[in-house]
Amino acid sequence: MDKMIVSGGQALRGEVQVSGAKNSALKMLFASLLAEGEHVFHNVPNLADVESASKLLEALGSKVSFSKNTLRVTTAQRKATEKNAAKGDYELVRKMRASILCLGPLLAKQGEAIVSLPGGCAIGSRPIDLHLEAMKALGAEVELREGYVHAHAKRLRGTSFLFEKVTVGGTENMMMAATLAEGETVLENVAKEPEIGDLAEYLIKMGARISGHGTSVIRIQGVEKLRPAEHTVIADRIEAGTLLIAGAISKGEVTVKGCSPHLLEAFVGKIREAGFRVDLTENSMTVFPQKSWKAVDITTAPHPLFPTDLQAQFMALMTLAEGTSVITETVFENRFMHVTELMRLGADITPKTQVAVVRGKPGCLTGAPVMATDLRASASLVLAGLAAQGDTTVNRIYHLDRGYEKLEEKLSLLGAKICRRA
Ligand code: EPZ
Repeated sequence: MDKMIVSGGQALRGEVQVSGAKNSALKMLFASLLAEGEHVFHNVPNLADVESASKLLEALGSKVSFSKNTLRVTTAQRKATEKNAAKGDYELVRKMRASILCLGPLLAKQGEAIVSLPGGCAIGSRPIDLHLEAMKALGAEVELREGYVHAHAKRLRGTSFLFEKVTVGGTENMMMAATLAEGETVLENVAKEPEIGDLAEYLIKMGARISGHGTSVIRIQGVEKLRPAEHTVIADRIEAGTLLIAGAISKGEVTVKGCSPHLLEAFVGKIREAGFRVDLTENSMTVFPQKSWKAVDITTAPHPLFPTDLQAQFMALMTLAEGTSVITETVFENRFMHVTELMRLGADITPKTQVAVVRGKPGCLTGAPVMATDLRASASLVLAGLAAQGDTTVNRIYHLDRGYEKLEEKLSLLGAKICRRA
């Protein structure tokens, strides 16, 4: 099982280019099920999750090819009546929860979807009840049987739907399904993450009629048919934030290129509140060296507030701050799996249910073997390793490979001493 070895103490310097957004690319792959023909996606990151989504599409009859960050998907003309034409198999779905996002497109295009329930994951139970409520609201019959969602509908009907909780995946599943429903669908209390806007823009290129994405209300006028399209995936703002913290925590000067700071306003505000100078251009962010930095409190919440996907990475930075930082996680119920591992490196943290109190102390981290538990926790441990004295070995690094393309290469180019070992 691969591990990452990080030798701390190098101040990172230089420029690094961000890859395409995992949490946008994955959904577009599933959107390709809405229209036969060849879809072309550029700036797709080469990640384990993209490979998993590609395998699921192939199981659903699509042809997928991937080279130099361009992914081509040819959606077959298949009817759900054909064997497994609409079945998201457990073996494939369990590897990646986002596979539930084939539900809406299959239901809309084929009138039927049989998708394995995703099962839980390290950061919480992550139910899909709101996804299922949304499909029912569009007129689908939905039944849970033997670990699978069985959904069917002759033709989905537009509706008004208020999400009782902001859900990125739920918003995306319903938006995709509604593109082929009869009549208008009005979605309220939707997620406003930039990846939702990127998916909407792709669906519009396919001929969908969508407005309001990025606000709390999205309107979709159903159409009879969609066509394949070509699209360039937006930058991965979470990778951008992770790389900016790599510069900050190592007391270096790093320019992260290719991502608009507008996608990370709350995050950049907190880095500045901690005392770092951060210069911005329209698609780059530069952080400058700080001898020491202040502890600041953060509360994660749906966009445009502080992103939950940068909470673990920010916590690593706070372990070395001067003062006490209160970190409140409001999106997932168990997203502090990195706390005990950071404590193994010498951090002083008291985790409670949804709050972690970090008593920061400059220079407190010393390298040690640690265990990655989920994608962003593994990034947090690599970041802490950059600043710890001595070597940090991050085990189970496959978690990192789900969401970061060539992270060790990017960090090495900035001067980090980091390598992967089997
Ligand atoms: C997406 O997950 C992202 N994943 C997550 O990124 C991200 O953390 C999350 O949105 C929040 O921004 C992808 O886009 C592939 P949610 P998603 O539905 O859609 C609860 C990463 O590190 N909920 O917005 O699954 C849920 O349990 C990953 O890249 C229900 O209760 O997130 C959670 O507490 C991790 N019922 C909250 O809502 C539902 O039906 C937000 O979940 C759906 C969700």
